[in-house]
Amino acid sequence: MGTFITIEGIEGSGKSTLIRGLAAVLESWGHEVVCTREPGATEIGRALRSILLKAVDPAPGTLTEVFLFAADRAQHVAEVIRPALAAGKVVLCDRYTDSTLAYQGGGRGVDRGLLETMNELATSGLKPERVLLLDLDPETGLRRARNRCEQEGTGESWTRFEAEELAFHQRLRDCFLALAASEPGRFQIIDATRSPEELVASAMDGILALLDVSRP
Ligand code: TYD
Repeated sequence: MGTFITIEGIEGSGKSTLIRGLAAVLESWGHEVVCTREPGATEIGRALRSILLKAVDPAPGTLTEVFLFAADRAQHVAEVIRPALAAGKVVLCDRYTDSTLAYQGGGRGVDRGLLETMNELATSGLKPERVLLLDLDPETGLRRARNRCEQEGTGESWTRFEAEELAFHQRLRDCFLALAASEPGRFQIIDATRSPEELVASAMDGILALLDVSRP
């Protein structure tokens, strides 16, 4: 069985940079690594992703949003994550069930029990061994996300979620921090204002114990 690690955080918290850095270190140590993300890691997921993130009018209802993220996740777990873990690989997943609890729960106000049931159904109980939570104040995060969009030059990359008001993003952060406080053994909170090298080093310290090999 491989090792399942998820990376969570608000917009602009640097999840992709951390994942790239971690994958490079783990591969140099001889691990087989699968980097994946939600939503949109499968063919079906890519279709769902475009519905979920684009500004469509009228926007999907909150419950529709919950079902679409769950559908994406069910396909992702079955098609990508479980097979990779069964093959002994390290899976680094950009967002997973805790994003649903933070965005649809903390952000949109959907009942926590309902979301936990949906997460359980979609994943058939598969939980990450470690959640790396990149923590950052939402103003800084949104500024970073906005700069990234402008650099990429595609108006489309500004998603429905990024366009939400600051208070929404503050609720996401509070919810992520509360989740981390409720499961301190599984979450590692990482200060996202640190340099990419420091983020990778601190995450590696935390996940070393999960891996079969030690630091070479
Ligand atoms: P993405 O561009 O992948 O964002 P990021 O680069 O910040 O990961 O867009 C994914 C968006 O979907 C992000 O705003 C968070 C949101 N989301 C949810 O609302 N619920 C979920 O369960 C997941 C997985 C993502």
